[in-house]
Amino acid sequence: MDFKKRMETLRKAIHEHDYRYYVLADPQITDFEYDALMRELQELEQQHPELITPDSPTQRVAGRPTKEFETVRHRYPMLSLSNTYNEQDFRAFDQRVRNALNAAYSYVAELKIDGLAISLIYENGLLVQGVTRGDGVQGDDITNNIRTIRSIPLTIRPVEGVPSDFEVRGEVYLPRANFEKINAERAEQGDPLYMNPRNVAAGTLKIQDPALVAKRGLQMFCYTLLSDHPEAFGDGQWAHLQTLKKMGFVVNPHVRHFNAIEEVMAFVDEWAERRNSLAYDIDGVVVKVNRLDQQKILGHTAKSPRWAIAFKFKALREETRINAITWQVGRTGAITPVAELEPVLLAGTTVSRATLHNMDEIRRKDIRINDYVFIEKGGDIIPKVVAVLPEKRDSKSKPTMAPVICPSCSTALVQTEGEAALRCPNPRCPEQIKRRLEHFAGRGAMDINGLGSALIDVLVEKGAIVDVSDLYDLKMDDLTGLERMGDKSAARVLEGLEASKRKEAYRLLFALGIPFIGITASKIILQTLGSIDALWQAEPEQLLEIDGLGEKMVDSITAYWKDSTHQRIYRRLKDAGLNTKAQAPDTDKNKVLAGKHFVLTGTLPGMSRAEATHLIEERGGRVVSSVSKKTDYVLAGEKPGSKLDKAEKLGIRVLNKEQFLEIIGDK
Ligand code: IVH
Repeated sequence: MDFKKRMETLRKAIHEHDYRYYVLADPQITDFEYDALMRELQELEQQHPELITPDSPTQRVAGRPTKEFETVRHRYPMLSLSNTYNEQDFRAFDQRVRNALNAAYSYVAELKIDGLAISLIYENGLLVQGVTRGDGVQGDDITNNIRTIRSIPLTIRPVEGVPSDFEVRGEVYLPRANFEKINAERAEQGDPLYMNPRNVAAGTLKIQDPALVAKRGLQMFCYTLLSDHPEAFGDGQWAHLQTLKKMGFVVNPHVRHFNAIEEVMAFVDEWAERRNSLAYDIDGVVVKVNRLDQQKILGHTAKSPRWAIAFKFKALREETRINAITWQVGRTGAITPVAELEPVLLAGTTVSRATLHNMDEIRRKDIRINDYVFIEKGGDIIPKVVAVLPEKRDSKSKPTMAPVICPSCSTALVQTEGEAALRCPNPRCPEQIKRRLEHFAGRGAMDINGLGSALIDVLVEKGAIVDVSDLYDLKMDDLTGLERMGDKSAARVLEGLEASKRKEAYRLLFALGIPFIGITASKIILQTLGSIDALWQAEPEQLLEIDGLGEKMVDSITAYWKDSTHQRIYRRLKDAGLNTKAQAPDTDKNKVLAGKHFVLTGTLPGMSRAEATHLIEERGGRVVSSVSKKTDYVLAGEKPGSKLDKAEKLGIRVLNKEQFLEIIGDK
């Protein structure tokens, strides 16, 4: 076989499938088939390393960790945009354009993506460099990080009559779902939460290890094409965007070309309303004079072009007062400050609390009790205090002091070096116990029916429960004596506890609350080792070999098991009859959904998302987040979202709960 030819064919095929997937959102093969192509190429490259090319799709994460980024000078300066927040300013801009041009003109309107501007340099159709905006004159060379973004072509699709040396600019951003996933994981570990997707995207681009960058799932929308011969790519912004798409770049689908300023205004209003329906954050609309020759006539100032303007949305921001600052104790003992606010209506919901993250944050912003502050909310994100209004501050007010003792158990707090959070070191601290129990009984973990936080509070305060293993000693009498607890509810709790004994072992492992061991890691551990006991017996070296476990996780497991209290709790749980073994692998006969892709939308009566996902995965199926041609079924409950419309458009089979249970033979 001609290896070289085969490798070229594979590379071309993979590039083509990337294009279909990322740019056209219309994949033609399954993930499985795609992975097979990738694997074949990887194997060939391993056998013939001398034939690896830099544009090979296997080379996206090939860069080594670096110490510093090199500074590069931009060939064309990266200007910014002048801003406007109201129609009046916008009309004034339009008037200036009209006066200067004295001819017909049109506008291209684009969403203003809230990410980071990046420049991509292509030579001979190959991506050679990716650079941050920096100060506009020079930026950091982050090529290796940029290459990990799968939607950025390493090699362009040739377009006839178009030069193959050029620069492309656009916005790198983190989809909201990825942001939320990252924060959910941090919350689970008791780490302070990130502020917004943009900050995480900025931080991610600065990570000096491309393998870590790849995990975050950054994306890019391209909006500018630069060259010494820009007209070769088209006569204006609109034509440039079409050329960009043809070359294989992702252009935001909501770009529009308008002749009248009224239409532009309607577009701005529409997106100010609809911004939360997008999968990513936007902070306005960018309006650009279309034609290149007219852009040239208008020219630019030192800072920004005169042919474009950013119409910024008003932030979802309100003023209110901080009535108190309370200190919350997390399940690992981390102490988090919370601002108790005078309730205000913000973007449709009443907000009365906002996280202040940690003491450093309070010091940096000098946030004090009784201060008037601005709070802000972007997308679905938790409200945050963005600024203090010092002019409204009471002259007698004093800086906020960090607590020295735990608000729950009065133990002296400690601060570990390199960590922002203060911690309560007392494992018997009632608040920590409550949080640990809530985690244990919570949805992703043991999911115990009837055991909510109100009941947990009472049980801990009465001293009936000190750790999770005490739950399984509870008797009818312990519960019926409690306030607002009838025989019926008490029986429900005991049944819930009984049922939890038969749940999958990975849930128990996750429920133990070992720092850094989330659901995914727990599943991996049970799949590879077969039981929780095997985990305790494994050597750290052995654990490190498991794909998906890192050093931090392994260290955390070791530290957890060293503690004799933890060993005692685990033994008691096991003695109580909790399942600690992974189920035997299902026989193929049970895999009725093997290879089937499901999308869930809406709420299923009496069935949580997690349960539905479990039922599907157990039978060999997969749950994916968005509907495409590859989707086999959409499982729709009450109040389904746009996914249902899309499924109907694509002719994909839609199931209700009954039909679903029938298919899986659970009826
Ligand atoms: S055009 C000189 N188009 O907004 C032209 N910028 O406030 C400058 N941005 O630095 C850029 N979406 O980071 C342009 N569709 C879009 C944009 C966009 C987001 C960002 C970009 C720029 C900043 C200016």
